[in-house]
Amino acid sequence: MKKPYVIIHTLTSLEGKINSIAVPEFRSAARQYEQLALHPDTQIFNIRGYLNGRVTTDDNTTFYRPPDLRLDAAPVPEGDFIAEPDAAMYYVSIDPNGRLGWQDTVVDYGGVRAHVISVLTEKAGNAYRDMLRRHGISYIIAGEERLDNALVLHKLYTLFGMDRVMIGGGGVLNWSFLQAGLVDEVSVLLAPIADGSPDSPRLFQAREPYCSVGPRSFTLIEARPLEDSSLWLRYRVNPAPAA
Ligand SMILES: NC(=O)c1ccc[n+]([C@@H]2O[C@H](COP(=O)([O-])OP(=O)(O)OC[C@H]3O[C@@H](n4cnc5c(N)ncnc54)[C@H](OP(=O)(O)O)[C@@H]3O)[C@@H](O)[C@H]2O)c1
Repeated sequence: MKKPYVIIHTLTSLEGKINSIAVPEFRSAARQYEQLALHPDTQIFNIRGYLNGRVTTDDNTTFYRPPDLRLDAAPVPEGDFIAEPDAAMYYVSIDPNGRLGWQDTVVDYGGVRAHVISVLTEKAGNAYRDMLRRHGISYIIAGEERLDNALVLHKLYTLFGMDRVMIGGGGVLNWSFLQAGLVDEVSVLLAPIADGSPDSPRLFQAREPYCSVGPRSFTLIEARPLEDSSLWLRYRVNPAPAA
């Protein structure tokens, strides 16, 4: 199978948390995070798409709206649906069960307009696929019951021509692709912030059945101080230790 070059890029607090913390240093780091990844004048990753987990999309974009389903919709054609093959940027939404209440075909973030691709399994039924088609939102099917992460990347490469992508979080999505051996690089924008909260989401988070707890290691590529005491760390992912 083919795959793009994959970079996990995440903004974290000093204790590795990825939720927002209401201090000016967080806002400065968030601006720099977007500039590195997406903004046309400043980005350095050269990506054509970025992947986000279902919780991240609900938190930031679809706000836990139920999808506008028509249960009597005519059967849609089997397989993938490509509404926009030539977008400059894609927002790749990992939503295996088809839960997100999309109303728009694009996400505006980081100074870039991105066409939405919904990544589903066969568990997402006809009414959900019909809703995506009515809104002009592309979708790909990758897996029967469980998402096939390698197939997701293969389809992004072969159907949409993405040769470099970013995984934008959250922690469950990050860890599931990393544990599957599909990530080339981890980029952490470390913000000089903390709040001591014991249960916020973190950079990597195991959640069954998508991923499990297990040791991994990394090799430093670069460490660069940024504005306002932020630090940009880039790591290569080392091979998984022998079982
Ligand atoms: N600081 C940052 O840079 C940054 C970036 C992104 C997000 N965030 C924050 O992170 C928080 C959310 O993180 P999170 O770790 O809880 O959730 P998440 O990774 O955004 O989403 C997890 C959900 O995505 C789906 N999913 C993820 N990986 C999958 C896989 N391999 N196969 C199938 N489904 C998969 C599942 O959806 P279902 O539950 O529907 O099965 C899973 O429950 C939010 O508060 C967000 O704001 C921070």
